[in-house]
Parts: sequence; structure tokens; C-alpha cells
Amino acid sequence: MSFAIAIDGPAGAGKSTAARRAAENLNFIYVDTGAMYRTIGLYMLEHQVPVDREESLRKALDEIRIELGYREGIQRMFLNGEDVSDRIRTEEVSAQASVVAAIPAVRSKLLDLQRDMAASQDVIMDGRDIGTNILPDAELKIYLTASVEERARRRYQEMVQKGAECSIEEIRKDIADRDYRDMHRETAPLRQAEDAVYLDTSDMTLDEVVAEITRLAKEKM
Ligand code: CDP
Repeated sequence: MSFAIAIDGPAGAGKSTAARRAAENLNFIYVDTGAMYRTIGLYMLEHQVPVDREESLRKALDEIRIELGYREGIQRMFLNGEDVSDRIRTEEVSAQASVVAAIPAVRSKLLDLQRDMAASQDVIMDGRDIGTNILPDAELKIYLTASVEERARRRYQEMVQKGAECSIEEIRKDIADRDYRDMHRETAPLRQAEDAVYLDTSDMTLDEVVAEITRLAKEKM
């Protein structure tokens, strides 16, 4: 029997970094579902697909083949065979990812892929609807969040470290807009599962968050 940890929460709460490190501690596979939505968003941007037109959207979705690979334990995203892991990390793709994530046909395309990954191996999967929709029977669910200010500050530092030019005000606005879209959409909106542990990381260091996730997992194993 495999063990699943579902981590949900808003943009920039530090889910991916914390989940990746906790997965290393526990020897689990880390699955970043946001990267899948980003990959679909990237395709739609690059092919200028009018995603609000059903026919165009369906045609595009049929042409998209998404695969995950792992290199030195790090997840890589492949779009029709091409490694797009770095190209999906721009602010433009972030915004487009949250637009396409509200479309039911997009979500159902990814649902089986995500469930299959958790069926055969121990996973930590992060996203918006993992505990509520994708893996409702996950052994451990965590809702990871932090204040908008703190999330904007972290995202800003991350971008600056990568050498990207950006304004903290714009990032703050982008995060607030995405929170709104993710929480108010009809299909699989972001919300805390009833049986999820609520973890506000505003005043926690990354090491503390990783230690807490690892501790909660070991308690259940
Ligand atoms: O890294 P960050 O928290 O900024 O975002 P992400 O996890 O890479 O996800 C990008 C976008 O995909 C989010 O804003 C959501 O709209 C969407 N998403 C989703 O709807 N469901 C998921 N399970 C994961 C991501």
C-alpha cells in the first residue's frame, strides 16, 4: 500500500520547496501539480490559443502530451517531448496557468495522471485540490499558507536570486489576483479539506516547515 501526503494552499506559500525537501527526508516522490497547469498554460500562450473558445481549447488539449521525468530527484516537465521546466517559471505563465486551471476540460485531462502517480508509489503531491479532490483518501493532508505580504516577499526574493527584474508591488498584485481566481472558480476551488492540518508559515523558517511536515508524516506512518 502506498502512502500519500496532500499539500494544498495559495500561491507562494512555499509548498513546492518544503514538499520537495520533506520528500527527500521521507524518501517519497515529490509531485508538483502546479507545473502541469503551467505547462498547459505555456502551450496556450505560445500557440496563442483563445482558451475561451471551446473548439480551439479542445483541439489544443488533444495536441498536448504532458510527461514527468526525474533528474537527480528533481521533477522535470516535458511538453510533447520537450523539457520546459525552466520556461514555465515566468510570471506570464503563472497568470495563464491560473486561467487555464479554472477550465473543467483542463482539470479532467490532468486528474488521471495525478491519481495514477499516487496509486503506485509513496508521494507528496502539492497543488490546490489534492486533499479535496484528487486524493481525498490521502493519509496526511496539510493546508499550507502565509500572509499575502509574506508570500509576495518570498516570491520577490526568489525572482531576484534568479536575476529577474520585478517589482514587489506587481508580485503582490499577481498573488492576490491568483488567490481570488483559485478560490472562487467553480471547478475544484482552493479550500482547506476538513481533515487537513492548517499550517500558517508566515513566521516559520523553511527548515521549520520541512521539519513539521516530516514530523506529521512520521506520526501517521
Ligand atoms: O508555485 P505557485 O504556488 O505560484 O503556483 P503553482 O503551484 O505552480 O500553480 C500555478 C497555478 O496552477 C495556480 O495558480 C493554480 O491556478 C493552478 N493549480 C491548480 O489549479 N490546481 C493544482 N492542483 C495546482 C495548481
